[in-house]
Amino acid sequence: MLKKYEFEYELLDHAGLLSTADQALLNAAIKATATAYAPYSNFKVGAAALLSTGQIIIGSNQESTSFPVGICAERTLLNSIGSQYPNATIEAMAISYDPLNKPSVEPISPCGMCRQSLLDYENRYQSPIKIILSGKSGPVMVLPSAAHLLPFGFDGAILK
Ligand code: THU
Repeated sequence: MLKKYEFEYELLDHAGLLSTADQALLNAAIKATATAYAPYSNFKVGAAALLSTGQIIIGSNQESTSFPVGICAERTLLNSIGSQYPNATIEAMAISYDPLNKPSVEPISPCGMCRQSLLDYENRYQSPIKIILSGKSGPVMVLPSAAHLLPFGFDGAILK
């Protein structure tokens, strides 16, 4: 039997076409790039999450002298929310970036490890996380759920 996996997402020409709430979240992610510690890659990433409480929480990549020890913006943010707001669900997460001496005019998409963490969070809280991807300017991608980023991802339910 041949099966097909596909999903729908929105591609907007620019952030001005987002809802006011999503624009605010994206702006928080863009601003959060300034808190990145990325002296090795010079690639600053910012992420911002809207919680069910209405709060916006931010995270950024934090690199290490021992390169693999560094952590991406998305997992910095998820781990921070998991520990500081364990009773809240995440409604949406925006991700942006600020590379040194390069334009930031198209979306970037989370790495594989962050996709697993996002999926874990969705499964843990049984609540989809809307994902908003954009550079500092330019087109914006909006995905209805992080699960789409990791088809056939590992579901920890099998460990129970
Ligand atoms: N990085 C993130 O923070 N998020 C991503 O989605 C991709 C990559 C970071 C990791 C590293 O500090 C730098 O960007 C370059 O890979």
